[in-house]
Amino acid sequence: MNKKTVRAGIVGAGFSASFHFEAIGQVYSTNVEIKGVYALEGAEAYAQKHEIAAYDSLERLLDDVDVIHCCATASAHESIAIAALERGKFAIVEKPLTGFFGDGSENFNGETFPKEKAQKEALASIERMLKAEKKSKGRILYAENWIYAPSVQKEREIIEKTGAQVLWIHAEEAHSGSHAKTYAYWKYSGGGVMIGKGCHPLTAALYLKRVEGKARDGQPIRPKSVTARIHAMTRMPSFRDEGHIRSNYFDIDDFSMMHVTFEDGTVATIFASDIILGGIHNWLEVAANNHRTFCNINPNTAMQTYNPVEANFQDVYVVEKIGTKQGWTYPSPNEDWFTGYPQEIEAFYRTVAYGEPVESDSSIAADCISTIYSAYVSAERKGVEVPVKTF
Ligand SMILES: NC(=O)c1ccc[n+]([C@@H]2O[C@H](COP(=O)([O-])OP(=O)(O)OC[C@H]3O[C@@H](n4cnc5c(N)ncnc54)[C@H](O)[C@@H]3O)[C@@H](O)[C@H]2O)c1
Repeated sequence: MNKKTVRAGIVGAGFSASFHFEAIGQVYSTNVEIKGVYALEGAEAYAQKHEIAAYDSLERLLDDVDVIHCCATASAHESIAIAALERGKFAIVEKPLTGFFGDGSENFNGETFPKEKAQKEALASIERMLKAEKKSKGRILYAENWIYAPSVQKEREIIEKTGAQVLWIHAEEAHSGSHAKTYAYWKYSGGGVMIGKGCHPLTAALYLKRVEGKARDGQPIRPKSVTARIHAMTRMPSFRDEGHIRSNYFDIDDFSMMHVTFEDGTVATIFASDIILGGIHNWLEVAANNHRTFCNINPNTAMQTYNPVEANFQDVYVVEKIGTKQGWTYPSPNEDWFTGYPQEIEAFYRTVAYGEPVESDSSIAADCISTIYSAYVSAERKGVEVPVKTF
């Protein structure tokens, strides 16, 4: 195969920009030439570490590349992606695609802000992004790694080849709290854990129902309504903080449950929380009419190790966000691979270089954000069923 060369730029220089860089290094279909990084903070250090250029403007970076990796804070996704699309460039956009990020006031409080208004603004943001994509030669490539996680892809194969009817998807993303400072504020994150983590298992569930519908009837099965509850456990006066769980959130939920009903009457129940100890807990269960599956993204039992003395593993990476390395643990021999990061980035470069179809596109990203903002409206009404607009 004659490999094409694609010029890439990174926007953002934090946590996700790091794993995007690692994943680009594993792209095998395409020669990727990383032109540089642009970020509000941390660009110089990132550029030095990865031996690439630091740009002082997004526009200059866009002029030099074919695709950007939008690894900036969620509140900046819309403007960065639209700037890329307007120049005919591809935009790999980290999750969440977009949302509602406040009314511009310094002390904006997302918890008390009316959720129907937030929903209206979030839907308008989605529409602006879709409109820009329609007019562009570029495309939005939605970086939802759960879609590319090998266990979710194996489940896709099972659904496609057996004509399964998926009756219930039960899934969760949880851990003990995100590291990013901005995560504590609705105005940067577009909500709390229901969007920040819930978007991952929700999008995987939306994806598998699309796969099912297309395989059997040629039409994706889309979400129809949602009922949801959210809680702020670590901000309850009764919360007893022992220092294991992050607890300095300003106006966001740290526990959420979305119950989605699809057009065909089947359901998905999605949990997301920041109150779970023991490392990342990312899993998805499918209850179908002809099989049942657990996708154990993290942890999984690919490897199990007993370590009697904490200090022995001082220099050994075990798995993300684990509190201790002593006793039985589940070291991940290749955490990024199980998580789907390299597969996702490889797939995106195949789209950019060779026009291959994209599994995680703007349509599924839009359904995800729309479902989540309907869920915030539902949660405000203590779980009343709310319709979901699809795009
Ligand atoms: N897929 C995943 O597993 C995963 C994991 C973590 C984060 N994320 C997503 O990645 C995005 C970034 O999160 P993070 O953890 O890397 O955050 P971070 O705080 O570690 O880094 C954010 C970076 O974005 C930069 N930035 C912010 N606004 C900008 C703007 N307008 N223009 C240019 N740069 C800007 C900041 O200066 C910083 O360098 C978020 O949308 C988050 O939800 C995804």
